[in-house]
Amino acid sequence: ARRSFSTSMASSAVIKNVTIIGGGLMGSGIAQVAAQTGHKVTLVDLDESVLSKAKNSITANLGRVAKKKFKDAPAEGEKFVAGALANLSTNTDACEAARSADLVLEAIVEDLKVKHKLFSSLDPVAPAHAIFASNTSSLSIEDISQAAPSRKENFGGLHFFNPVPVMKLLEVIRTPFTSDETYQAMMAWGMTLGKVAITCRDTPGFVVNRLLVPYLAEAARLVERGDATARDVDIAMKLGTGYPMGPFELLDYVGLDTNKFVLDGWSKKYPDEPLFKPVPLVNEKVAQGKLGIKSGEGFYNYK
Ligand code: CAA
Ligand code: NAD
Repeated sequence: ARRSFSTSMASSAVIKNVTIIGGGLMGSGIAQVAAQTGHKVTLVDLDESVLSKAKNSITANLGRVAKKKFKDAPAEGEKFVAGALANLSTNTDACEAARSADLVLEAIVEDLKVKHKLFSSLDPVAPAHAIFASNTSSLSIEDISQAAPSRKENFGGLHFFNPVPVMKLLEVIRTPFTSDETYQAMMAWGMTLGKVAITCRDTPGFVVNRLLVPYLAEAARLVERGDATARDVDIAMKLGTGYPMGPFELLDYVGLDTNKFVLDGWSKKYPDEPLFKPVPLVNEKVAQGKLGIKSGEGFYNYK
């Protein structure tokens, strides 16, 4: 197991220098995992305060990993944390950070216009060989790639899962234009991170969210109809199917606003798909500011 954290892991891979744009929940997790597997990582966000928060959370999470992986060798654990942190730098200038990148991975807000603005500014300045990728949960990779016309072949999706240091899956998304070389490089990079990579075409939600988002919506509809309580649905899915969290625990964990946002986008784009219909119960909670764990209340109370 220790091998997956070796700093020499990236030496034979094409992707060594990684620029992660967006130092929020996902970007900081991805930056952590890339840094701890020997990549040179530059994490970018709009201002220093976000970056310093991201660095603090990365340092804390590296400590968690070290404690687990090196529980009998604390000195090695400290070396591991220091080595990973030495691989990590931060920048508020995305263009500057992209100039030496082999991979530019975007994990900023889920807004096509904002993602377009970012990629159109990076396309002319990043090296020609650099791969551009998005961690989007719900948008089309091909739509996002329109903003980087010079590298349609070097553009794909790299979709991670929350919490990134823990969840083993990486979805690698090919558009009709993604070259075999780019696809292979993305799959190989996933392996160097210690993730298991699967492939999916550029379809709404890829594999996981295409199944998970309608499942969470169906759970909310079930409760909305009064068929069972949220608590009982959660118990049922945990004990009946072995899921680590029930659908309402997961809704609170992911954020009700995020779930609403995805359904709003998909139902607008695919009005005939009944599985993508918005859920009034979820919308009501979002309107009341009950967004889940992050706001202190969702389907459960965390205060
Ligand atoms: N960073 C590093 N390590 C973390 C961590 C984090 N952010 N969160 C948890 N861990 C570690 C803990 O240290 C712990 O390690 P040990 O086993 O060595 O003690 C381990 O993970 C388990 O954590 P906990 O004991 O605190 O809690 P748990 O056993 O209940 O597991 C969980 C927590 C991993 C989140 C688990 O409940 C789970 O897998 N839930 C489902 C999560 C899920 O479905 N995620 C996908 C969401 S969808 C998505 O991300 C896609 C999208 O586009 C929206
Ligand atoms: P977040 O709000 O925690 O972080 C986004 C960060 O991007 C913020 O720190 C923000 O300041 C920064 N940002 C916004 N615009 C920027 C710009 N132009 N340049 C640089 N930084 C900018 O969001 P998140 O939950 O980490 O999600 C990020 C992306 O990952 C989204 O596309 C989301 O759909 C996707 N995603 C989220 C999850 C999840 O469970 N939260 C899971 C998988 C994928």
